[in-house]
Amino acid sequence: MLNPANSKKWTDTSLVAEVRATMLLDCMTLDEKIGQLCQLSGNYGYISEELADSIRRGHAGSIINEVEPQVIDQLQRLSIEESRLGIPLLIGRDVIHGFNTIFPIPLGQAATWSPQSIEKAARISAIEASSIGVNWTFAPMIDITRDPRWGRIAESLGEDPYLCAELGCAMIKGFQGVDLADEKSIAACAKHFAGYGAAESGRDYNTANIPEVELRNTYLPPFKAAVDAGVSTLMSAFNDLNGVPATANTWLMNDVLRSEWSFNGLVVSDWESVSQLITHGLCENKKDAALAAAEAQIDMEMVSDCYWQHLPQLINEKRISESHIDQMVLRILTTKFSLGLFDNIPRGFQLHEQSVVEQHLAEAKDLACKSCVLLKNNNRRLPLIQQNLASIAVIGPLANDDYEQLGTWIFDGDEQRSVNCLDGIVQQLDNQVHVHFAAGMETSRSNQQQGFAEAISAAEKSDVAIMVMGEESILSGEAHSRADIGLPGCQELLIREISKTGTPIVLVVMAGRPITLEPILADVDALLFAWHPGSMGGAAISDLLFGRVSPSGKLPVTFPRKVGQIPIYYAQKNTGKPPSDESFIHMNDIQVRAPQTSLGMTATHLDTHFSPLFPFGFGLSYAKFEYANLALSSQTLKIGESIEISADVSNVGECDAEEIVQLYIRDKVGSITRPIKELKGFDRVSINKGDTITVSFTLHTDELGFFGRDGRFNTEPGEFQIWLGGSSEAELTSHFTLQTPHPSAVN
Ligand code: BGC
Repeated sequence: MLNPANSKKWTDTSLVAEVRATMLLDCMTLDEKIGQLCQLSGNYGYISEELADSIRRGHAGSIINEVEPQVIDQLQRLSIEESRLGIPLLIGRDVIHGFNTIFPIPLGQAATWSPQSIEKAARISAIEASSIGVNWTFAPMIDITRDPRWGRIAESLGEDPYLCAELGCAMIKGFQGVDLADEKSIAACAKHFAGYGAAESGRDYNTANIPEVELRNTYLPPFKAAVDAGVSTLMSAFNDLNGVPATANTWLMNDVLRSEWSFNGLVVSDWESVSQLITHGLCENKKDAALAAAEAQIDMEMVSDCYWQHLPQLINEKRISESHIDQMVLRILTTKFSLGLFDNIPRGFQLHEQSVVEQHLAEAKDLACKSCVLLKNNNRRLPLIQQNLASIAVIGPLANDDYEQLGTWIFDGDEQRSVNCLDGIVQQLDNQVHVHFAAGMETSRSNQQQGFAEAISAAEKSDVAIMVMGEESILSGEAHSRADIGLPGCQELLIREISKTGTPIVLVVMAGRPITLEPILADVDALLFAWHPGSMGGAAISDLLFGRVSPSGKLPVTFPRKVGQIPIYYAQKNTGKPPSDESFIHMNDIQVRAPQTSLGMTATHLDTHFSPLFPFGFGLSYAKFEYANLALSSQTLKIGESIEISADVSNVGECDAEEIVQLYIRDKVGSITRPIKELKGFDRVSINKGDTITVSFTLHTDELGFFGRDGRFNTEPGEFQIWLGGSSEAELTSHFTLQTPHPSAVN
């Protein structure tokens, strides 16, 4: 062992991170190496003697869940000043959709279809979190999910791999900044690798069975994109993937992630997912679990202690080599060097001035505005015109709640920064219109109807009733799945009672997932879906309701009519018997004793229409957009070429507004069946009223390929249909042909 005092060459900042990490590794004892692989839980606000001792001995590589700036400072000092080699700690925290300033939940952010705004939000989150010493976030979550029962859909970026990849990479850019070593940058962590969003029945942590082709075409692309975008770290998922829990899945981790994708960053387990290999029934004891996870190159163990307890003996017994462990340590040290932790510590922990807080809140409001999706607007009930209103009712258990609008995973969110809907509306109206407020229900889950009378009376006295309903934060997020995704408690009843007053209803839904809103859709005149919009939710919603800004969000996930339709998503397969309006028969219309073949014999349910309530990509505006002149640079192209696709988009409405232009393709015939539509491009554009702009996309033939039966990525010749428009049900369509390569070009 080299004397570290003589060999502190790793302090040489002119050397690259990997080289510095290797120099440091050369000076480490086995104990210190294994210490780096351990992420310990903080004590939440203080440092126990046991924790301090572990750090001094170099037995900790990272601490999770400590956010007291002075305590973080002290932890770093213990590690840097009192451990033998002075290796700084990774300080990890779930900064999921904001730190003190809370942005909309990730699913709401996805509804913005705005990589630029999402990047800004992540940058602000990094600035706030790094200011108290956090240097690693466990975000973005880029699990594709097509199951709104799953509580973690709130943390996801929706159902589509292309949209998720684009937005996930924007978040990574925001967190990591231009330079990871900048003291305002933090390491991102793409999670949960992989397949977590396919948990059976949407029950959290449940088994995921995903055929390899489906895994590669749908679930893995966002992770591949994250790796290509330079994400520093990845987290292994809790779930069992095709029989092997992700945390021990050597095919996934070694063959795909490390070999195929050449990912050389840090992989951290999920919370105790190493010791859970025993609970899964994959390993008999902690020693086997340590071996299984280490073989899958899970570099750092979050919180459980299998590595610490058993790796030394496993090395001794030659069941795993020290050089294998060295590689794991090296990746952790390299991350620390890349973050500049060896050069910038201790960071100046500083609270932000009010002006900075205000800037952050302004961005939160902008993102919340962009995230709300207008789903219904009968007779142009919205925007509300203040001059035409004498009084309005604001009704609902979520209308004046600073906390519930923040959503799941807001450990460090500052509720004091919230502007709720009632506050937002009152501020907007500035005493010019009388506001009658009645919560109507105690909580979103309540079944008590005592509050109804007051709410009905408020509606009766008013020109319009704004009802702010939905789910409390706690009804979505980790381990908060639901089997029924309707409005909870007696909300539907309250909406029906208010509709009986004849006062028009503008329904605002705050929720962590799509909600089955069909039962009350006819009772409301307008419907704005606001997700959990974060700190500035109320201010953003009131701007939208009163037309200061036109709604522009579009759904990043399909809304089912009924829970039994799940999984329902736009990129479905055609099947051999696709449903159609002509063939669809509702069971109420079937004659008694009708012969079995009297039905349409297509892929439908008997008791609900096969279409979604609202399709992917859908969202209304106060403006009106028309699409025309779809043009292709060519009707044919060859492998390796690109095609330009453009169309004119006109704002023929009454106000300036933003529109999200979407490009879809369909590969008409494939060696495996292909989705009936796939998103391949989108652009959020601003169009003034009366104006027309041309929006164009470039599609390279690589973007037309897919993983086939042989597990390889191929681009197959044939006809492609394309659509360009404002939702996945866009009608403007054309086609082109990808030509068969000339035989001489095939080897
Ligand atoms: C979650 C992760 C999270 C981790 C640390 C786990 O329960 O699955 O997403 O990052 O806890 O809080």
